[in-house]
Amino acid sequence: EAEYYTLYKGVYLPTKVHPPESLKYYEEFTFRPDDILIVTYPKSGTTWMQEIVPLIMSGGDPASVETLPNWVRVPWLELGQSSTHKHEERPSPRMFATHFQYNMMPPSFFDVKPKVIYVMRNPKDVFTSAFHYYGIISIVGDQGTQSEFLHKFLDGKVMFGSWFDHVKGWLNAEDKERIMYISYEEMITDLKDSVARMAQFLEKSLDAQVIEKIADRCVFKNMKQNKMSNYSQVPREFMDQTKSEFLRKGIAGDWKNQLTVAEVEHFDAVYKDRMKDVKYTFLWD
Ligand code: PPS
Repeated sequence: EAEYYTLYKGVYLPTKVHPPESLKYYEEFTFRPDDILIVTYPKSGTTWMQEIVPLIMSGGDPASVETLPNWVRVPWLELGQSSTHKHEERPSPRMFATHFQYNMMPPSFFDVKPKVIYVMRNPKDVFTSAFHYYGIISIVGDQGTQSEFLHKFLDGKVMFGSWFDHVKGWLNAEDKERIMYISYEEMITDLKDSVARMAQFLEKSLDAQVIEKIADRCVFKNMKQNKMSNYSQVPREFMDQTKSEFLRKGIAGDWKNQLTVAEVEHFDAVYKDRMKDVKYTFLWD
């Protein structure tokens, strides 16, 4: 692991993407009050949100997701230094995505208090999605067998650390009124309602028709066709989508096809222990 990861505040970050200079820039980053932050543990619905939020903010304008790749229209907060367009030069309201845990946020985040949408997904599906994803990317080496990867995942020895720490940190955040919590499963169950709630949180009043159009664009099979959102522009040496597509299945419950009975038992035992002090009701419980 050591050769692929940098430890930052106790959390594994992929060194190739997060060299020390980028983290220094990140720590000094200044938010604006109208910034919008999409926060996720990896494989929980980031790319989906990079489609939904620009559409909401533009009042449903397709150009908002057809002219720029997702990582340019909603860039990674922590990669400001290497972004195509400098964060400082972007017009407001700026949208950002981040996989960072709550305690890794830069000081300005706590002073300026920009809005956050935090998306959570059933960790067994997160694991399943991650297992396939690690198999197609070049930045973290070989993920090992499924059982080896499961142990690393449950121990937080994967990119962006432990799912449990991530979710618990953000659920215990201060200033909760500026955070909207939503799950991948809610979005799967009722995307229109999810979009409507997000629009309300972002203080964008949209007609029912516009909301319906946005939701329709963002269902898996339609969004998958958007070449500005399906990572088809990333060279194969970095992400080999001939092995498994980035927009792979887009469903809830695929863990049932992936985990063995013994793996499910182990997962449940760790989950029960690590989540015993969490009061939130998840759709997957
Ligand atoms: S990353 O690498 O952290 O940015 O990955 P992330 O985008 O968070 O998660 C990828 C999974 O989200 C699924 N996805 C969707 N599901 C349903 N509808 C839509 N529109 C959608 N867009 C992305 C994607 O398919 C990955 O999940 P799996 O289970 O692997 O299919």
